[in-house]
Amino acid sequence: MEKESFHFSYIILLLTVVASHFLASIQPRCHEDERSALVEFKATFFTRKPQCCYSTTSDEKAKIESWKALTEETQSDCCYWAGVKCDKISGHVIGLDLSCSCVSGHIPHSLGNLTPLVHLDLSSNRLIGTTPSLQNLTLLTHLDLRENSLHGVIPNYFGNILKLNHLDLSYNQFGGEVPSSFQRLSNLKHLNLSGNFLTGEVPSFLGNLVQLKCLSLTGNMLSGQIPSSLGNLVQFTSLDFSVNRLTGEIPSSIGNLVQLIDIDLGNLVQPIGSLKQLKLLNLSNNMLSGLLPPFLANLTNLEALDLSQNQLSGEIPQELTQLTSLAVFNVSYNRLTGPIPQSRQFATFENNSYKGNSGLCGTPLSRKCGDLKASSPSSPTSEED
Ligand SMILES: *[C@@H]1O[C@H](CO)[C@@H](O)[C@H](O)[C@H]1NC(C)=O
Ligand SMILES: *[C@@H]1O[C@H](CO)[C@@H](O)[C@H](O)[C@H]1NC(C)=O
Ligand SMILES: *[C@@H]1O[C@H](CO)[C@@H](O)[C@H](O)[C@H]1NC(C)=O
Ligand SMILES: *[C@@H]1O[C@H](CO)[C@@H](O)[C@H](O)[C@H]1NC(C)=O
Ligand SMILES: *[C@@H]1O[C@H](CO)[C@@H](O)[C@H](O)[C@H]1NC(C)=O
Ligand SMILES: *[C@@H]1O[C@H](CO)[C@@H](O)[C@H](O)[C@H]1NC(C)=O
Repeated sequence: MEKESFHFSYIILLLTVVASHFLASIQPRCHEDERSALVEFKATFFTRKPQCCYSTTSDEKAKIESWKALTEETQSDCCYWAGVKCDKISGHVIGLDLSCSCVSGHIPHSLGNLTPLVHLDLSSNRLIGTTPSLQNLTLLTHLDLRENSLHGVIPNYFGNILKLNHLDLSYNQFGGEVPSSFQRLSNLKHLNLSGNFLTGEVPSFLGNLVQLKCLSLTGNMLSGQIPSSLGNLVQFTSLDFSVNRLTGEIPSSIGNLVQLIDIDLGNLVQPIGSLKQLKLLNLSNNMLSGLLPPFLANLTNLEALDLSQNQLSGEIPQELTQLTSLAVFNVSYNRLTGPIPQSRQFATFENNSYKGNSGLCGTPLSRKCGDLKASSPSSPTSEED
């Protein structure tokens, strides 16, 4: 019985492989409705400009310019157009890469008809307005809208694009809070919302998106504390919350093996380890206070730790010398006191890692530690408030 069903599924598999080769050799043409959506898109939104995008070389500009709507076979088949990718079997448009393509105006409704899309890159254009036209693109796994002038609140419907694993909305003018619908995006690996005008708190549900590897919220107006749920995100390689208005202490869950509570469901989640993959932790330019936590020494792969421009106090823990991969360390402009650790990586950091902390002493600063004790007998806590 098992053997028979194995044979049967083997035959099905074989037929599928043969059929797909056969179909691929036919190379299905681009679907007419999708082609006209693209033609309309070009007609309405492309303006020829000498330079549309700061970051490119001239040959990269305006893929869209080569699109033709002529009758000759390959030219009328949108699957051959620059930046367009079709499914080899169905012929549907599944990828559209129009980064730096001199596209301006509101994202047109015609684009929303390309429902088979899985990859959409409209980054570095001049798109304005809100983004209602994307709401039926529910198969997207990759959506890149960075460097445009989109505004309004981030629409809730992004939370219905359940397969998203890469979402980049950075450098736009989005305001409001991070939508609560994002808690459904359990496949997200890369989320970049930097350089907008987001307000409210860093939502604790981000800690449930356990696939997250990179999270950047830098350059917004987020306030409140860093949620301890982020300690769940053991896949993290990069965490950038710099330039916001965050307050409170650095949560110990970031460096500690702790039991975490799934707040929404009330479930007790098993301890799963600490953020051992983390390479970049950037919390600079906030209003974080409290001590510089020794548990950061648990982040054994850390290469860059930037805590500059906060209100951290106390001494630099000796434990941090265990971070043997650390190449960048910055605690300048805080309220730190006491001797600077001297061993391992700490022998390589220069004095601009420490400036703006009147109580720190020792190499590479010119202030010797003996001097400090003699001239400033008051305890570090008197500096607080
Ligand atoms: C999305 O699909 C629904 C149902 O097919 C349709 O009514 C609606 O107009 C579409 N929205 C957009 C923005 O294309
Ligand atoms: C987020 O976006 C900004 C601006 O586009 C970019 O500089 C930064 O590298 C991105 N961060 C991550 C983690 O991808
Ligand atoms: C941390 O973020 C600030 C502001 O966004 C930036 O200037 C700095 O270079 C970053 N530090 C590191 C180590 O990437
Ligand atoms: C993290 O560091 C603290 C002390 O610095 C230690 O007690 C704890 O066991 C460490 N946790 C992990 C997961 O290594
Ligand atoms: C540390 O940060 C300060 C200000 O945030 C900056 O001026 C300094 O150059 C940085 N130092 C290093 C080593 O990155
Ligand atoms: C930092 O180092 C430079 C030389 O490398 C020195 O001129 C300067 O005085 C030092 N600053 C402090 C605050 O120690």
